[in-house]
Amino acid sequence: MTHPPLVSIRNVVKNFSELEVLKGIDLDVAAGEVLCLIGPSGSGKSTLLRCVNFLERIDSGYIRVDDQFAGAVVKDGVLHEAGESEVARYRQHIGMVFQHFNLFLHLTALENVTIGLTKVRGLTKREAFDRARAALADVGLEHLQGSYPRHLSGGQQQRVAIARALAMEPKLMLFDEPTSALDPELVGEVLTVMRRVAEAGMTMIVVTHEMRFAREVADRVAFMDQGRIAEIGSAAQLLDTPNSERTRNFLSHVD
Ligand SMILES: Nc1ncnc2c1ncn2[C@@H]1O[C@H](COP(=O)(O)OP(=O)(O)O)[C@@H](O)[C@H]1O
Ligand SMILES: [Mg+2]
Repeated sequence: MTHPPLVSIRNVVKNFSELEVLKGIDLDVAAGEVLCLIGPSGSGKSTLLRCVNFLERIDSGYIRVDDQFAGAVVKDGVLHEAGESEVARYRQHIGMVFQHFNLFLHLTALENVTIGLTKVRGLTKREAFDRARAALADVGLEHLQGSYPRHLSGGQQQRVAIARALAMEPKLMLFDEPTSALDPELVGEVLTVMRRVAEAGMTMIVVTHEMRFAREVADRVAFMDQGRIAEIGSAAQLLDTPNSERTRNFLSHVD
C-alpha cells in the first residue's frame, strides 16, 4: 500500500531581493522517512528548512505538511494566505533543531522543555512537568533537569533542544546542522539521540555534514547545489555511486 507523502514541496522558489536562493524545489518525504540534505555552504539548505517551518515566506510554489500548507490555507479549493493563528497551528506540528541550540539561558533544562508545553500547548504545569521529564529521560538527561544551560556541555544542550522539540509531539522534525557547533567528542551523543528518534519512526529532514550518519540512518540523501536539488537517491546510491559530477566532486571534499 502506498501512503501519500507527509511532506510535499512543489516548485518552491525563494528570493532574497535580487538573489534567487531556491530555484524550484520539488521534494516529497514519506511518513517515517529520514531524508538527509547535503551540499555546499550557500546552496540553500537552511533556507529550505526555514521555508518548511514557515520562518521564511516562499515566493512561489507550495509546501504541504500532512493536511496543512506553509503560510496558506485552502478555501473553496484555492490557496489563501494564512492568518497568524493558522500559522501557529501549522508550526505546532513541526519541531526544529538548530546548530546553536537556542535554549533559554535563564531557564533550567526542565523549564526549557516545559515552557512550550504550557504556553503553546496549554498543558497544566503538572502535565507539562511529567511530559518534559519523560522527554529528558529519552535523551538521557533526566539527572540534569535542574541544570542551567551554562552548566551543560554543548552536546547536553543540544539534547535538551531535541527533547524540547520532541515533547511537543511533532509530526516532522527538522535538523539544521545539529552537530556543527560541537566539539568533536560531543558529536556522537547527539547523533545517537537522533538515531533513536529516527528508529522510533519520526519523519526527519536533516541537514548534515556527518556522512556516516547519513549513510547509516538516512533512507534517502539529497544533494543541494545552487538552489536546486541536483541529485537525490538512496543513501548508498548517492554516497557511493553518485550520478552527477557535481555530487562526486562535493563528496570528495567531505569525509
Ligand atoms: N535573510 C537573508 N537575507 C539575504 N540573503 C540570505 C538570507 N538568508 C540566506 N541568504 C543567502 O541565501 C543563500 C543560501 O543560504 P543558506 O540557505 O543559509 O545556505 P546553506 O544553509 O546551504 O549554507 C546564501 O547566498 C545566503 O547568503
Ligand atoms: Mg545552513
